[in-house]
Amino acid sequence: MKATARAHTNIALIKYWGKRNEQLILPTNSSLSLTLNGFHTTTTVEFQEDLTEDNFFLNDESVKGEQYDRVAKFLDLIRLRTGKEGLYASVRSTNEVPTAAGFASSASGFAALAAAGTKAAGLEMSSQDLSRITRQGSGSACRSIYGGFAEWRMGDRPDGADSHAIPVASAEHWDIRVAAVVLNDTMKKVSSRAGMKRTVETSPFFRGWIESVPNDLKEIKAGIAMKDFEKVGQIAEANCLKMHATTLGANPPFTYWLDTTMTVMQKVREMRKSGLPVYFTIDAGPNVKVLYLPEYEEKVKQILSDIEGVTDVRLSKVGQGVTYL
Ligand code: DP6
Repeated sequence: MKATARAHTNIALIKYWGKRNEQLILPTNSSLSLTLNGFHTTTTVEFQEDLTEDNFFLNDESVKGEQYDRVAKFLDLIRLRTGKEGLYASVRSTNEVPTAAGFASSASGFAALAAAGTKAAGLEMSSQDLSRITRQGSGSACRSIYGGFAEWRMGDRPDGADSHAIPVASAEHWDIRVAAVVLNDTMKKVSSRAGMKRTVETSPFFRGWIESVPNDLKEIKAGIAMKDFEKVGQIAEANCLKMHATTLGANPPFTYWLDTTMTVMQKVREMRKSGLPVYFTIDAGPNVKVLYLPEYEEKVKQILSDIEGVTDVRLSKVGQGVTYL
């Protein structure tokens, strides 16, 4: 009744932005991501007869409140499935996803929790089954079950049975890199969950977003198959800008960008003009992720590190899917 699993975080090239069912975490659009080897979570789950409630330690500190509730709620799904109601678990996670780097540690966190939790409960799961249940912890996490490039197919069934990730290309397919540009940030954050909810409910631009995703997805998959860096970069950058545009139309309007976010975006465009093939993408936060090819690593790191207001640049390669330790 004990298992340990490790999962890496991922960065979406085609964003998941909007839910059609908040309870089951069913998205309004399909999405596609790159799993990153640089940032991971390792989680041990042990179901114990003597516990009267779940407990959750993150980096050796006991976690309570909303974060704890999401973990306990996720364990309920596993208990429900195995008939283990009333059997509680001890959950210990180590996060090597620097929250400061602006990566959704919830992606690697829920993927590792789902893998360790289902294994500890004795459930035999295919990767697809695992992705489907992981989705109910945090949507983007369902893509972290796979390494390399993964697509989360939105599905159309009301029960979510066909809403899970599938592998698109393995980590070995293509060595592309991501630089996470960390900014000096004191802004109070609108969580991705709250941000996408407000956008779905109030932004008139949301419809345009949804309509544009299927073609982006089709084109980027063709680009990945051909290893066409310009094509993949252009589509990812434009898709990110469309997602962020929806937030400006929300009521009340909001943006995840800081002035330095825009400075970094501008720098990426300048690098391109000078002949360096680089593209950016941004999640629900101010930090910028820059896509580049290995041969330009030194140069890209140097230029990004020199921007005023940039506190760190963390480099990552393409990573593997979930593993059991
Ligand atoms: C902007 O997966 O954090 O990073 O399903 O509510 O847990 P919940 O949301 P979450 O949203 C991620 C949004 C995003 C884009 C993406 O990763 O696709």
